[in-house]
Amino acid sequence: MADNKKIILTGDRPTGKLHIGHYVGSLKRRVELQNSGLYDKTFVFIADAQALTDNIDNPEKVRQNVIEVALDYLACGLDPAKSTIFIQSQIPELCELSFYYMDLVTVSRLQRNPTVKTEIQMRNFETSIPVGFFTYPISQAADITAFKATTVPAGEDQEPMIEQAREIVRRFNHIYGETLVEPEILLPTNAVCLRLPGTDGKAKMSKSLGNCIYLSDPADVVEKKVKSMYTDPTHIKVSDPGKLEGNTVFTYLDAFSRPEHFERYLPEYPNLDELKAHYTRGGLGDMKVKKFLAAIMQEELTPIRERRKEFEKDIPAVYEMLRKGCEVARETATATLDEVRKAMKINYFDDMDLIAEQAKRFAQE
Ligand code: TRP
Repeated sequence: MADNKKIILTGDRPTGKLHIGHYVGSLKRRVELQNSGLYDKTFVFIADAQALTDNIDNPEKVRQNVIEVALDYLACGLDPAKSTIFIQSQIPELCELSFYYMDLVTVSRLQRNPTVKTEIQMRNFETSIPVGFFTYPISQAADITAFKATTVPAGEDQEPMIEQAREIVRRFNHIYGETLVEPEILLPTNAVCLRLPGTDGKAKMSKSLGNCIYLSDPADVVEKKVKSMYTDPTHIKVSDPGKLEGNTVFTYLDAFSRPEHFERYLPEYPNLDELKAHYTRGGLGDMKVKKFLAAIMQEELTPIRERRKEFEKDIPAVYEMLRKGCEVARETATATLDEVRKAMKINYFDDMDLIAEQAKRFAQE
């Protein structure tokens, strides 16, 4: 039964290393929530089974990236003493739960999921969509509800998944009685962090577009990526007026810059608005703005990179941490599944009343 606990759950597909889009979209927030003391439990997991839904012929890629994502988590400050970090495929209860949820969702409802729609187009599946991929929102509902998560910190693209999970919970509770908890998405408060564009100015930072800054990128790579970022192509001479719209360097400043960065690296401007005003007026060169952004990025990423290097020194310990996390996660999932089976009346052998009732019924006949 629902018991008013506040529980965080979120995860990532291990299809690549994590980048700064993941960082501002969800990772940074998770670490803050983990440390806030406001939540009873935090679960963070690596969605390897979900990654396989569109990488079925590339299991090695998924396997390699499980450890990369685990290292990125630890580097960002997720702490196994405070958060349960685990691997999705190691919790078989999630498959079982997905199978039951499949009865509660229609094909047309899945077809309407806007995130899945876009992903199907991006992957050129056309008519040969794997069933597992098509139904991953259902499995994601299982991921969330198996842990009775109340709060899912995630990016905007995950909104349709959470909505679908909520519908499943309502339908389940309506049919079988109050058992599951309706989750809520926790979106970034800063609008630009909802969907950080790639360094080329394209809509989304994504591995396949080659426009990412990774959390594990060395300092010189970060420097190079920032210096070659997309700005305003009509801003040619320093004296030209520049446009902010679609100007990725300014979008990143919106996401990352804080007042103290100006004091430290650009004291001639009191704040971002003044910097923007000067750029729009003309007389401010792209390189100066990029140098400022590079300094901020280094300040944010250096501690993450250094922590990652430390964890990389003891890889067996990282696997051990994950193994323990899976064990703890499984206990919770098992408890929820016991309740689910009972609610669905498929708990034949632990229900003494059932056996007694049936015995009585047949004795009367
Ligand atoms: N779909 C998410 C992503 O692409 C990963 C994910 C799987 C997830 N299950 C989840 C996120 C449950 C939040 C909650 O990154």
